[in-house]
Amino acid sequence: MKKLRFAVIGTGFWARYQIPAWLELEGLELVALYNRTRSKAEDLALEYKIPGVYDNLDELLAKEDLDFLDIITDVDTHWHFTQKAAERGLAVVCQKPMATDLEQARTMLDYCQQQGVLLFIHENFRWQAPIRAVKQAIDSGLIGKVFKARVSFCSAFPVFDNQPFLAELEHFILTDIGSHVLDICRYLFGEARTLYALTRRVNPHIKGEDVANVLMEMEDGVHCFAEMSYASKLEKEAFPQTHVLVEGELGSIQLTHDFQLRVHTATGTQVSTIRPQLYPWLDPDYAVVHSSIVDCNQNILNGLRGGKCETSGADNLNTVKLVWGAYTSAATQQVVFP
Ligand SMILES: NC(=O)c1ccc[n+]([C@@H]2O[C@H](COP(=O)([O-])OP(=O)(O)OC[C@H]3O[C@@H](n4cnc5c(N)ncnc54)[C@H](O)[C@@H]3O)[C@@H](O)[C@H]2O)c1
Repeated sequence: MKKLRFAVIGTGFWARYQIPAWLELEGLELVALYNRTRSKAEDLALEYKIPGVYDNLDELLAKEDLDFLDIITDVDTHWHFTQKAAERGLAVVCQKPMATDLEQARTMLDYCQQQGVLLFIHENFRWQAPIRAVKQAIDSGLIGKVFKARVSFCSAFPVFDNQPFLAELEHFILTDIGSHVLDICRYLFGEARTLYALTRRVNPHIKGEDVANVLMEMEDGVHCFAEMSYASKLEKEAFPQTHVLVEGELGSIQLTHDFQLRVHTATGTQVSTIRPQLYPWLDPDYAVVHSSIVDCNQNILNGLRGGKCETSGADNLNTVKLVWGAYTSAATQQVVFP
């Protein structure tokens, strides 16, 4: 099978993991890197033996023969780079959050559809091994019909040390972590029918909100509470784990600290530990997140080859609707119908 040739746009913090995660897979060739600060692209190109280095995207697009672009730049550039790729007929893989707002996300999707190119959003949290295990446990039917759930990402990890731009975002936790957490809710429980949200800023040194609580009624009636915070000084720091509690008519499923999965029914509690696969290139502080990139990329590669992909642009638009629905709800103190 022909190898798919691609270029990476943006060689900052996340590209350090996204690139080696792509290199774990067969059937691909990373031919070029582009960054506005050329030296950052040169460093990564040297480390991973990538032949092309550019600080001019038009030059890259003119010279390289590509199948797709992988966009790993700040959110306010995603639409611009998507347009550049799509007008040349290249498929697009783009980091979350898809776009700066819902309207721009719709424009991106429409444009790719008009141009007849595939758009994938790199939404990796649903690909974390422990989250897949929760889904499997729900689908096994052991706890019966689910009626209620809580999905939590509450931490005091100094996330601004690695990603200083996050402190400058006017819309912070819902776009950054909310994109992931709300996507996990959709993955586990389907689409939301109604949503009510509260947000606040605790850290005075950042621009956006660092706490968000979102209560949803899902289409099949499940009450799903998504809570996220970067201001939670808890006894046991969980970053970057997402904790989950699912309650069903016959029992409960809990994903708790250190990847412990507890499935409780009338016959007792089954406990297992679902650890992420450890790759040599991942940062141990982010192991479960970095490890999930490989599976997410594998699924996107399947999509690029014409197969099924869970995180298409069309699918991710529903996550974007929840993120911006939550902002609307928090601003108006009204229930919204995303
Ligand atoms: N999936 C995840 O878990 C995850 C984690 C971290 C970041 N991300 C996403 O990855 C994206 C990038 O985040 P990051 O933390 O790597 O940011 P970063 O600031 O560390 O890196 C962005 C890079 O893009 C380059 N860049 C920005 N605008 C450019 C332009 N117009 N032309 C050329 N280069 C440009 C910057 O020079 C920088 O090297 C964001 O969308 C972020 O949400 C996803």
